[in-house]
Amino acid sequence: MQPRGDDPLGRIDDGAVRLSDGCIVAVGRRGEIDAAGAEIIDLGGGWLTPGLIDCHTHLVFGGTRAHEHAMRRAGASYEEIAAAGGGIVSTVRATRAASEEQLLAAARRRLDALAASGATTVEVKSGYGLDADTEVKMLRVARALDGHAGVSVVPTFLALHALPPGADRAAYVEQVARETTPRIAEAGLARSVDAFCERIAFTAEEVEQVFAAAARAGLPVRLHAEQLSNSNGAAMASRFKALSADHLEHLDADGARAMAAAGTVAVLLPAAFYCLRETHLPPVALLREAGVRIAIATDCNPGTSPTLSLPLVMNMAATLFGLSPGEALAGMTVHAAAALGLDDRGRIAPGQRADLCAWDINEIDELAYWIGLPGPSRRFVAGEQR
Ligand code: NIG
Ligand code: FE
Repeated sequence: MQPRGDDPLGRIDDGAVRLSDGCIVAVGRRGEIDAAGAEIIDLGGGWLTPGLIDCHTHLVFGGTRAHEHAMRRAGASYEEIAAAGGGIVSTVRATRAASEEQLLAAARRRLDALAASGATTVEVKSGYGLDADTEVKMLRVARALDGHAGVSVVPTFLALHALPPGADRAAYVEQVARETTPRIAEAGLARSVDAFCERIAFTAEEVEQVFAAAARAGLPVRLHAEQLSNSNGAAMASRFKALSADHLEHLDADGARAMAAAGTVAVLLPAAFYCLRETHLPPVALLREAGVRIAIATDCNPGTSPTLSLPLVMNMAATLFGLSPGEALAGMTVHAAAALGLDDRGRIAPGQRADLCAWDINEIDELAYWIGLPGPSRRFVAGEQR
């Protein structure tokens, strides 16, 4: 393939990769790769990409919230539904009531669908427990999901998602910071700590207390920030060198600059934007200008983003947010890996894990062009076809 001079994708026409021990060892044009002694898999044309990485999901939950979808279509807002006892806390009730086995069985079916659409690595958050025991239960389910359908699961403790009904705010935040965060860190159940910084959730000051606890426990942080309003969450998260700040519809220039300086990845979630029929677009031009890496993710959750298709989200990122096809692909590969703090995947390059997808398409731009392309024709996880 002609890496076209400034082609950010580094495409190779008539390319080949050599794999060994689950890793990529050589990449180039077919004639340049030494095939001696290797089993040859002919993909028969099409395009090979890195396995897709979904860096923001709430895959483990009880129940669904299909009725809220109908309420929103009838005119109720996300905030009104939350204030009326629906929203996140209704999923909390269903998640507390479900057994670990029930949560696992339902999450496995969703993970099968994500995998079939091209995912080889998926981040999974807790956050529908709001008490330590249920948060631990959710994270144990995330751990049990790891490897299902060949997917690497990266668990995140979503520490501050909603205030439990009837709880005292200050006491709750303090308990999460002092007790739950260290408990989950010590048990090795999460790779990072997340929170929802928003006027219907928690202030930047409240989140800071939990982020300080995460830092003390040696866990990196990420944040749901600037989704419905500008709470200066992304700038605060950047002070903690957050791996990512996610949503970001209401991010301002100062926030974008703070993220760039900290190396914090912007994770855009177009399916949540679509589902909530938001109109305030994330400032993609500001992110580009500031040099912030942009990832995209499904945000699969029962309330605001019931989707299990990564290619659909690529299309939405292009159609709704104006990402180029290359930005959309980078957003679900190399930049999504960075959002998870992983540097062993997300690119087709020597030394990377051989997590790969073969797509039956003529042009790579078709990934973001079809409105929900069916999944890859073949998917390889650490070199094995799955
Ligand atoms: O990423 N914004 C907060 N959390 C989820 C929504 C969770 C829910 O409504 O259940 C999100 O969109
Ligand atoms: Fe989310």
